[in-house]
Parts: sequence; structure tokens; C-alpha cells
Amino acid sequence: MKRIGVFTSGGDAPGMNACIRAVVRGAVYHGVEVYGIRRGFSGMIAGDVYKMESHSVSNIVQRGGTILKSARSKEFLTPEGRKKAFEQIQAHGIEGLVAIGGNGTFTGAMIFGNEYGIPTVGAPGTIDNDLYGTDYTIGFDTAVNTALDAIDRIRDTASSHDRIFFIEVMGRDSGYIAVQSGIAGGAELVMVPEVLTPLSEVVETLKQGWSRSKSSSIIVVAEGDEAGSAVEVAAKIKVQVDENADIRVTTLGHTQRGGSPSAYDRILASRLGLGAVEGLLNGQKNVMAGIINNDLVYTPFEDTIRLPKPISEDLLRMVKILSV
Ligand code: F6P
Repeated sequence: MKRIGVFTSGGDAPGMNACIRAVVRGAVYHGVEVYGIRRGFSGMIAGDVYKMESHSVSNIVQRGGTILKSARSKEFLTPEGRKKAFEQIQAHGIEGLVAIGGNGTFTGAMIFGNEYGIPTVGAPGTIDNDLYGTDYTIGFDTAVNTALDAIDRIRDTASSHDRIFFIEVMGRDSGYIAVQSGIAGGAELVMVPEVLTPLSEVVETLKQGWSRSKSSSIIVVAEGDEAGSAVEVAAKIKVQVDENADIRVTTLGHTQRGGSPSAYDRILASRLGLGAVEGLLNGQKNVMAGIINNDLVYTPFEDTIRLPKPISEDLLRMVKILSV
């Protein structure tokens, strides 16, 4: 393999740049040409491709976002779109791909690989940490710390005013950010999409807290919780606890997607980027590079997409115990 392509796709995540850097430098080290594809599958279809050198990735290890930009492509979901993408890949002499992204990215890469035989190795880049085949995904640690910083700040004002705060963190289908930021931030309760939290339990937790002289409370809600957004949950709880309860809601939103990656994310991204390139050069295809128990492993795309990565029931239990 003499020429590979690299792209980022789906929601961006802090550390994607460190991963691109590792892919480019790893390829250069092994004497392989590397082409950057802008805006994921959309750029592949459009032929938005350029040759990258070692210096193309200077001074990016510390930057959030992705220098290759990212997109979610509807056209790539169609056979016509994928045909155009293949024609561009062929025209540029690209023999293998490194895809940095999440579930949607790997689904696209798997279908493309099966249709056109282009070997692809993925590196898991998503703040959601919802991919089977790796303990952690690139961007998750930074996102948790961003959420935690906000929770700490909100705790100050919640305490001053004896208020209940519902803080919404990201995670459409996944409660990982909610659980970890909630534990680290000392939340009274964490609500996640994977596990049903009856509203009666929220009410009970708040009332128990008051009976033990707690004057303020923090409840972390993952955006995909079955009870709705934090705004909706707060409105439902208000009528059940006390119409006079002083309740506020903060939605952290895309603040969690940006910012300089943590040391952990930079190191993880570097390992996974290099692991993806070396995997590709060693004949791996249609797999995702991941780190499990500190070892580099390759998991078929099919499994990363299909298999769930459950939230630890132990951690959820701990939140309840520690909030007494
Ligand atoms: O998958 C990452 C993620 O940040 C989710 O947590 C969130 O639900 C979604 O992306 C938001 O996507 P968008 O940036 O397209 O609004």
C-alpha cells in the first residue's frame, strides 16, 4: 500500500486533530503517501482531497475541532453517492482509508468497503464513548471535564441560592458523559437513556435530601433520557415536588464538543491514529482500532456498530449511595 486517505466524519470531538497528526506522521514514517479528505464522505464524493506532508499537521496536537472538517453526508447513504466517492478514491490512487468518527462513520465505511473493497481502519472519535471495542473514545475525557467544570460552577450558585439545578449534558443515545461528570461533580442523581429513571425516584431523591437538610441539589440529565430534555424533566418535577421549589435548568450543549483536548485524549488519539495506520499497512480492513485494558485491539466494524456498550450499573448505584 503506497497511498492512503484520512478523513473525519460525524460529530467532531476534541483530540481528532491529534489523531490526524498521528495518522499523517505514522504514514510518513512508514514511507506511505497520505491524502486528507475534507468534510468526511461529502468531501470524498466531491473529490475535496489534498496531499498532506509531515508539516501539514504541525501545531495541531493541542487544537480542538478537526482541521479536515466534518460532516454527516446524506448522499453517501445512496449507492449513487458511494459510486461517486469510489471514482474519486480511484482517481486519486488511494488504496486504503483511515476513518475517524463514530457509529455512523463506521456504518458508511463498512458498506463502502463491502461494495468496493477499499480497506478501511477506523479510529473511534466521538464524545459519546458509545462504541463497542474500545474502553474510551477520542474526545470523551475532554467532554467529561468540560461538563464537570460547568457542574462545579453551577454548584457554587446553586448552593448560594438553595436551588435545584437540572444540567443537561450531551448523549443522544448514551449516558456515559452524564454518569462520569455526575459522579465527579457529586450529583444527587444521574438520568441516562440506557436505564429508566422513574420521575417518582427523582422526586423521592429530592425530598430525602431536604429531610437531611440538603439545601441545593444537582441532577445531571443526558439529552437522550426517556423522560425528555432537562427543560421537560424540570417542568414535570416542579409540579410534583412543590410549585414553589426554586428550580433552574442549564443545557451545556456544544460547549462539550469543543476546546483543547486533555492529555488523556491526546495520548489516546495518538495511539489510535498510529494503530489505525499500522493496522491498515499490516492488512487489517473493515475494523476499528481500540484500546481495551491498555492494549491495542482491532474489532470488526460490524461488531462496533451492532454490539451495545452498556453503562455500568455499579456506577449508577454508587451515585445513589453517595448522594445520601
Ligand atoms: O455524537 C456526538 C453528539 O455530540 C451527541 O452527543 C449529540 O446528540 C449529537 O452529536 C449532536 O449532533 P449535532 O452536532 O449534529 O447537533
